[in-house]
Amino acid sequence: MAPAVSTAYVAFEEWTGRRDVPTLGTNAGAPTLPFQGWRRFKEAFAPELVRLAIEETGRVERVIDPFGGSGTTALAAQFLGVRPSTIEVNPFLADLIEAKIARYEIDAVVRGFTQVVELAHGKSRDPAEFLTNAPPTFVEPGVNDRYLFSKDVAARFFAYRSAIEGLEGAPTRRLLKVLLGATAVPASNALVSGKGRRYRRHWKETPVRAAAIDEMFEHGVLSALFDLRRFEARRCRDYEVLRGDARARLAEIEPADMAIFSPPYPNSFDYTDVYNIELWMMGYLNGAAENRRLREATLRSHVQIKRDLSAQAPLPGSLLERTLGALATVQAKLWNPDITAMIAAYFDDIGAILTGLSVRLRECGRVYMVVGDSRYAGVDVPVAAILAEQAPNHGFELVRAEPFRSMRASPQQGGGHELSETLLVLARG
Ligand SMILES: C[S@@+](CC[C@H](N)C(=O)[O-])C[C@H]1O[C@@H](n2cnc3c(N)ncnc32)[C@H](O)[C@@H]1O
Repeated sequence: MAPAVSTAYVAFEEWTGRRDVPTLGTNAGAPTLPFQGWRRFKEAFAPELVRLAIEETGRVERVIDPFGGSGTTALAAQFLGVRPSTIEVNPFLADLIEAKIARYEIDAVVRGFTQVVELAHGKSRDPAEFLTNAPPTFVEPGVNDRYLFSKDVAARFFAYRSAIEGLEGAPTRRLLKVLLGATAVPASNALVSGKGRRYRRHWKETPVRAAAIDEMFEHGVLSALFDLRRFEARRCRDYEVLRGDARARLAEIEPADMAIFSPPYPNSFDYTDVYNIELWMMGYLNGAAENRRLREATLRSHVQIKRDLSAQAPLPGSLLERTLGALATVQAKLWNPDITAMIAAYFDDIGAILTGLSVRLRECGRVYMVVGDSRYAGVDVPVAAILAEQAPNHGFELVRAEPFRSMRASPQQGGGHELSETLLVLARG
């Protein structure tokens, strides 16, 4: 008789270390977990939320996350033996997600890494070759004596980028590209936080050294290799990653049992701005037109660009109608005249996502969504309550709305004032 083959899977708890998390919402203070430190993503929710959602729903083989971010849902699902399908509009983040959940031949990654280090360590490439259409603030001399990267730092960065681009094997190339991208902000003269970026204090007196790129990249790759090897035996190794706008691509995603996600909050936080440095430095953006296209593909949760904000009229007497009415009364005090229209458009977009999900999910399949309220000129936008009221119009019934006890204002809320975050659980009728 043939000996029984036993497969030892790596447990979800080995990854999370059975830690106590202060909140399952978007958790600024949570300690860094393996994989999640490759590129810190403050707006991520805790993987424990994914476990809770999957356990509560039961009989889950496939899960959808239409707003992938740093890939928390996708990665946690793999640990839990569930196949993830995810969409992400930001190409750097989409690559970050896929870099975490793809399969690798570790020896091939090590060979690729060695080749890149041989070609790039201590070397330079002219930044002008790589940043032809980028804003002039990127590289020294910059604008008004301000620049994100000194010439030396940028030249070292591009030596790595070009060595990586010459590699064979898409998974290795993607992984190393993402890990190089993760050095861009720490090697820049800026700090990126909350709603944007600012120059570090004393950035001219304490310049970043070009060798910092060598050190950060090599350290990043070694630690990622450690994570990949240690957590290789996840219960599910399959996945689907779609790049682009969830509003357009949801119809293509494979059907699933449930969805777990956190959409951008309608708080005027434009993720494209926040990831701008990586997007340009890694060649995801090559011109102003591409930048604009990417912004237009994001959910209508911000007013950074002028665009079509048309939306269906709210149902008479609904909470959304009352909220839009209250915003109209403070129109003159709003810091941007498009805010009221943006809020209406936001609910139109989320409604379209819910309707799309109702077609992709099985009967009684659930949606777990983390949403955050907003406030403009003293008027509350009770996002969770509005969505709970709207859910039946999109094929869902409300199971529960559970506020998170947020220890501090969430990064999705700009880190400043306290606004509540809520877990909405919906079931497909
Ligand atoms: C709050 S984050 C998701 C965080 C994620 N739950 C995690 O744990 O990492 C929202 C994400 O939605 C993405 N996004 C914005 N508009 C989108 C769109 N139209 N389609 C797909 N993704 C979009 C943003 O780029 C951002 O990564």
